[in-house]
Amino acid sequence: MTRGRFITFEGIDGAGKSTQHAWLVSHLRAQGRTVVATREPGGTPLGEKLRALLLSEPMHLETEALLMFAARREHVAQVIEPALARGEWVICDRFVDASFAYQGGGRGMSLDKLQQLAVWTLGDLTPDLTLIFDAPVAVAQQRLHAATANPDRFEREQAAFFERVRQAYLQIAQANPQRVRLIDACKRLEDINQEVASIVSTLC
Ligand code: TYD
Repeated sequence: MTRGRFITFEGIDGAGKSTQHAWLVSHLRAQGRTVVATREPGGTPLGEKLRALLLSEPMHLETEALLMFAARREHVAQVIEPALARGEWVICDRFVDASFAYQGGGRGMSLDKLQQLAVWTLGDLTPDLTLIFDAPVAVAQQRLHAATANPDRFEREQAAFFERVRQAYLQIAQANPQRVRLIDACKRLEDINQEVASIVSTLC
């Protein structure tokens, strides 16, 4: 059986990646594909409990990283690897790049330590494609404030934090041109849908 495809969605809070994630999932299902739609942190019952803690409880930045990777380990074992082995497509709202961008870029955690956690947690699992939705921080914050009544622990961070996260994502895109595509999230929704569909069609 052919292994499925693994596509991850990334970007700063408010860039609009979750809307695009939902759109791609329905687009692929309409084409008749079996798709697993999932997210991080979360994606499993245990992962969702860890997510609730991560989004609400203050904690040391390395505790935060360890919990992100603990949730990810469970997600990879219970959901992602089995689905890919069954030939299904896994469309994941955030994955390991978010740890490098948020805990590394945003909070300043050692990239070396994050890399060790990534090797330990993922083995040789790498997304086939990562879409990074990029928008200026001011634009993303405006969208976020319009859409979110009760911001979580990350969404309450200052603009400077999101600037660092954004720069980290831009560096990830530059360093991984084969895997990562950067998408201008300021464009019209329909134009972004088309761009996403066209990029994803190259994986078929
Ligand atoms: P997010 O996808 O933004 O959830 P929602 O759109 O429902 O608000 O994810 C929640 C937060 O988790 C987000 O602010 C980024 C953060 N995060 C990390 O800091 N590191 C990680 O490794 C992951 C997966 C997420």
